[in-house]
Amino acid sequence: MIRGRFTLVVALPKGRNFADGYRALVQAGLELPPLEGERALLHGREGGVAVLELRNHDVPTYVDLGIADVGVVGNDVLLESGRDVYEPVDLGTGACRLSLIRHPAATGPIRRIATKYPRFTAQVLRERGMVADIIELAGNVELAALTGLADAVVDVVQTGATLKAAGLLEVEVLAHSTARFIVNRQSLKLKRELLRPLIERLRANAHNLP
Ligand code: PRP
Ligand code: MG
Repeated sequence: MIRGRFTLVVALPKGRNFADGYRALVQAGLELPPLEGERALLHGREGGVAVLELRNHDVPTYVDLGIADVGVVGNDVLLESGRDVYEPVDLGTGACRLSLIRHPAATGPIRRIATKYPRFTAQVLRERGMVADIIELAGNVELAALTGLADAVVDVVQTGATLKAAGLLEVEVLAHSTARFIVNRQSLKLKRELLRPLIERLRANAHNLP
């Protein structure tokens, strides 16, 4: 059990948002622990701040259920999670988009869509009055369009390098996303003196982004 052993527990997503999230929090004055070895999952010493290194889709879960007090996660993932957390700061980093992607040879109607974002995809389909099977995958989703597992894919595009390498087409941008600072609702009340100034500084720094 982690509760009570640390002054604050921070959930960060491994991958691209980790370094940006870590930096934003340090710049806002939070004393984050040094990062231990490459395979460490939990950084920090008792009595200080702990950092949990999570898959990005798990960050809202840890924050909503109060294991982590705060976290950093893309709002694409937050939307998908359906979790109830306080979302006080748009950090502005990690900008990316959720797009509809197809193989250039796939020109017929869309009957099967593969994605890591099944709830978001279902909502888009509903809004458009479209019907298609949604196939939930765990990663490298572009392969579904390449191999014919699905005739379209909904996935994250950041630089576009993955699409280019795979020779796939970004047919339509469905949503834009940036990294958000999220807070457990109860932690906001219990750790108010620590969190309020942190939120203010994160906001101020986000406005001064280059
Ligand atoms: C993500 C996303 C795309 C890629 C987009 O994959 O799913 O594949 O990044 O970035 P780009 O436009 O800069 O190429 P990632 O490898 O992070 O995770 P995954 O295992 O879920 O595919
Ligand atoms: Mg990928």
